[in-house]
This record gives sequence, structure tokens and C-alpha cells, in this order.
Amino acid sequence: MRHGLFVTSALAAVAAVTFGSLVSCGGPPASSTPPVPTREQGLAAWGTINTVLQHPRCRNCHPSGDAPLQGDDSRPHVMNVQRGPEGEGRIGEQCTACHGPANPPASYGEHTPPGEAKPWHMPPPDMKMVIVGMAPGPLCEQVKDPSRNGHKDMKALREHWDDPLVTWGWNPGLGRAPVPIPHDQLVAAFETWSAAGAPCPQ
Ligand code: HEC
Ligand code: HEC
Repeated sequence: MRHGLFVTSALAAVAAVTFGSLVSCGGPPASSTPPVPTREQGLAAWGTINTVLQHPRCRNCHPSGDAPLQGDDSRPHVMNVQRGPEGEGRIGEQCTACHGPANPPASYGEHTPPGEAKPWHMPPPDMKMVIVGMAPGPLCEQVKDPSRNGHKDMKALREHWDDPLVTWGWNPGLGRAPVPIPHDQLVAAFETWSAAGAPCPQ
């Protein structure tokens, strides 16, 4: 072990020397851990997250009123569907009565109710998690506030990007535009934003 350590630090010394010469001609910073992103980089990353959140595939389940929205123009949901006491629809008119565990096959045509592995629902009335009509600053403050985001810390928020109701946005079924920003870019933007201390625009 001792010997191994010696070799490692000898290598590190060589690396430091090499790095020194790289830095002197404008090379990368002499550190193996990624540099902490600046506030500007964090704000730019929030811009990417904000763009995804405001996409119709996301905002349609996050309205300020009590009806979910549909389509790229975010019009009120057909048949006067309502949030209901838990976000799962009114009693006897639950979202899952129409929205199944997967998108119906493309052969069924357009305008079928989409579905996902997790029971289809929207946020509950006592924590609406509104996205529609929110400016980037206030939306950013809401997303990182556990008392308004469904009690999520940064780790839970990171995991939320892999929630089936979110990933559905990249596989929304026939006739619906998917979120155009790739999912891995959203995750990378979240990691930058988070590492920068989750700054929010004023
Ligand atoms: C079928 C409805 C539905 C769709 C579509 C949907 N969400 Fe949500 N979203 C929910 C529900 C329900 C919750 C609350 C669940 C929880 O707290 O775990 C939620 C919570 C959230 C939260 C945490 C709360 C907050 O406001 O910070 C974020 C962030 C979020 N969704 C992002 C998205 C993104 C991004 C998309 C699109 C790619 C999306 N959602 C699409 C239903 C939906
Ligand atoms: C009576 C059947 C029915 C019920 C109940 C129902 N839906 Fe739908 N939903 C549909 C149909 C059909 C569509 C597709 C409409 C279209 O594409 O023209 C749809 C589409 C949607 C969309 C649009 C997706 C998009 O981005 O365009 C969302 C969001 C949605 N429903 C949420 C909900 C929520 C949340 C509930 C429960 C509170 C619910 N629905 C209850 C039938 C229903």
C-alpha cells in the first residue's frame, strides 16, 4: 500500500508539473474535480430548465386553475375534467378512468388519452405547483422551495426528472410534440444549476 501511495503521489507530482506548463499556455485549471459553475452559468442552466417546464407537455398538468390543459395551445381539458380533492380527478371521474398505464397504440390515431407507468394525475389543490403564467424568477424560487414543490430537497428534485410523468414528455404519443430539449440536457442543466447554488433570476 505504502509503495502504491508513493507511486501515486509521484505520478501526481509529474501531473502537476505537466499541468503547470499547460496552465502557463492557457490550458485547463489544475484540478481534477470539475470547477464550481459560476452564478452566470447557474442562471443560464436555470434558463434551460425553465424552457422545459414551460413546454406544453409539462405545463398542461401544472395550471393555475383546476382544469388540466391540453394541446400545444394549452386549452382547457375536454369534458370539464377537474383536479378533484387529491389531483386525481373528481370522485367517479378519476384521470385513470381514461388515462391508462401507457400511451394507446399509434394505430388508434390522434386525440387518445395519453398514459404512463405511474397513475396519471396532477398536483393536489393544497399544493398546486403552478407553472402556467409564472415568470422565470418566481418559478425558480418555487421549484427549490420544499414547502411548495412537494417537499423535495435537491436530491429528490434530481430524481423527479426520471419520474414517469416527467419522462412521458419525451414520449407523448401520436400527434403531440415531445419536449425538444433532450432529457440528458435537462439533467445536465439541473446539475449545473444545483452546483452553482441554485441561483434564481430577479
Ligand atoms: C400527468 C400530469 C403531469 C405531467 C404531464 C407533468 N407533471 Fe410535473 N407533476 C405532476 C404531479 C402530480 C406532481 C406532484 C408529484 C410529486 O410531488 O411527487 C408534479 C410535480 C412536478 C415538479 C415538482 C414541483 C414543482 O413545481 O417544483 C416538477 C419540477 C415537475 N413536476 C416538472 C415537470 C416537467 C418538467 C414535466 C414535463 C417534462 C412535467 N412535470 C409533466 C404531474 C405532471
Ligand atoms: C373522460 C376521459 C378523461 C378523463 C376523466 C381525463 N382525461 Fe385527460 N385526456 C383525455 C383525452 C381523450 C385526451 C386527449 C385529448 C386530445 O389529444 O385531443 C386527454 C388529454 C390530457 C392531457 C393533454 C396532454 C397534452 O399535453 O396535450 C392532459 C395533461 C390530461 N389529459 C390530464 C388529465 C388529468 C390530470 C385528468 C384528471 C384530473 C384527466 N386528464 C382526466 C381524456 C380524459
